[in-house]
Amino acid sequence: GHGGGAHGLPFTAIAPAAVTVDTVTVPAGYRWDPILRWGDPILRGAPAFDQARQSPEAQAGQFGYNNDYLDIIETSRSGTSALLVCNHEYTNENIMFPPGTDPATIIRTAWAAHGMSVVELRRRRRGEKWTYVPGARLNRRITLDTPFAVDGPAAGSELLTTKEDPTGRVVRGTINNCAGGTTPWGTVLSGEENFNQYFRATGTDPKEARYGLSATQDTRNWRSLDPRWDATSPDFVHEPNRFGWIVEVDPTDPTSTPVKHTAMGRFKHEGANVIVNRDGHVVAYMGDDERFDYLYRFVSRDRIRPGNSWWARRHNLRLLSEGDLSVARFTGDGLEDGVSDGTGEWLPLTRDGQSMVPGFTIEEVLVYTRLAADAVQPTKMDRPEDVEPSRHSGRVYVACTNNTDRGKVGKEGPTEPNPRPLNKDGHVVELIPANGDHTVDQFTWNLLLICGDAASAGTYFGGWTGPVSPISCPDNVAFDSEGNLWVSTDGQPSAIKVSDGLFKVPVEGPERGRVQQFLAVPSGAETCGPVVHDRDGSVFVAVQHPGEDGTWDAPQSRFPDFVPAGGAPAAGQFSGPRPTVVQVTRSR
Ligand code: FEO
Ligand code: CA
Ligand code: CA
Ligand code: CA
Repeated sequence: GHGGGAHGLPFTAIAPAAVTVDTVTVPAGYRWDPILRWGDPILRGAPAFDQARQSPEAQAGQFGYNNDYLDIIETSRSGTSALLVCNHEYTNENIMFPPGTDPATIIRTAWAAHGMSVVELRRRRRGEKWTYVPGARLNRRITLDTPFAVDGPAAGSELLTTKEDPTGRVVRGTINNCAGGTTPWGTVLSGEENFNQYFRATGTDPKEARYGLSATQDTRNWRSLDPRWDATSPDFVHEPNRFGWIVEVDPTDPTSTPVKHTAMGRFKHEGANVIVNRDGHVVAYMGDDERFDYLYRFVSRDRIRPGNSWWARRHNLRLLSEGDLSVARFTGDGLEDGVSDGTGEWLPLTRDGQSMVPGFTIEEVLVYTRLAADAVQPTKMDRPEDVEPSRHSGRVYVACTNNTDRGKVGKEGPTEPNPRPLNKDGHVVELIPANGDHTVDQFTWNLLLICGDAASAGTYFGGWTGPVSPISCPDNVAFDSEGNLWVSTDGQPSAIKVSDGLFKVPVEGPERGRVQQFLAVPSGAETCGPVVHDRDGSVFVAVQHPGEDGTWDAPQSRFPDFVPAGGAPAAGQFSGPRPTVVQVTRSR
């Protein structure tokens, strides 16, 4: 039907999928194919996936677990080669390993299953399905053993030193990488999110507690094999401070050292997306995914150099190393006008390399960003996840996934930008920089979507009053070539009792706010990615944690290999679920 809008991707919305539907559901006229699964060999010499005998050495050369952020970056004009870049957020040990696997194997394999992957893709012509190239030159696995350089004003700070790294400038690995963004200079940014869960800490230090570090939650027990995961050890008190950053990876150079950017602050970074302001400064928008936490902005000190020369690239690779960090305060204009909207301002945390927060040094602002932000009273949001500026309109879209604590006893109640108590369905904020300038401190805002199904109170769909697909728990956002917003979800099975999915939402014109579901993911999965190449007739999603509440013996999903219980898997197949990158194309 006409509903798809984007020329390359006309579609009629699918019906919501029941949570028992253990496959990818796509619109009529489309098909889906797995293009990379957990355990697929990537690096030269990596073995085929063998689920019953998975090892740390095999995993370090194979596609990691729980693919989240995804981009497919074309690398030839003919559209026949590309780089796939992906985050591996976390591990589900309960379904990854057969019962009786020795704990050291589980832990070391999990270290290798975290991180990121870079994988070369090939195809014969545009519009076709991509195939990954095992052992290709640019293929890379980044794991918990990959060295990262720390840069920016807090690099070398005593707050980042440990016995293993007295310089405070080199960190082994990245962890819990959730969403991200690809920069105009071709690198990928990735957010280190719930890093706290891997550590044992005292839990009594308020600075630790503000980041959720505690004495009891490191159920993976990594400290049993590497003391750095024990922040109660005097040698590793600062190890948690070395996570919670935005990292930048150059996928075109497998020998490059990835960077942790301290100038962009430390919190539970969902991700970061960059836009080039009209004056050439680079502006990144970032969410801190926690109930009642904040929305942040980074403005680079330097301006982008155009072009792809060696000089331009070297300059642009440093753009996120120095700049000003600020945090958002939203002011509502009252609900008498019937809509959630108002004005806002960016409250400075750092400026010109100096702290703007009384009582905090610049290093303290950047390492303990949540506490510095608390001091300037920003707006407590309903879990800001992915935040992305539109290159079409310059407007910025913020997915606030949900906050079931809003309005509970002892917690903040509804506010105009977060208008619902016990908010189980989430909303999407549209932020409009004053005069279209991303570097000024004023903006206006409104809620594009107040999500839910027909039974949810207070829903709003951008002013559209016709039928919509039910949608809840917006998490990742992307745009197609026409500037339509695409939203993927995480949490619909509990919030509105249907599988998670991917939705298209026009943000301009008569169909603004018309939510239409494009895809649903298998049982237990969350929809990540997404990547919309509408001109190419393709949509990509990262199917994360299918069947995550099952066990090895009683899988709750068999996606994507669908090997039945007791069946003999062919080489490289698995009878349990595998997180998988899926490409959706138009069927012929
Ligand atoms: Fe990893 Fe905020 O989702
Ligand atoms: Ca209003
Ligand atoms: Ca997410
Ligand atoms: Ca989420």
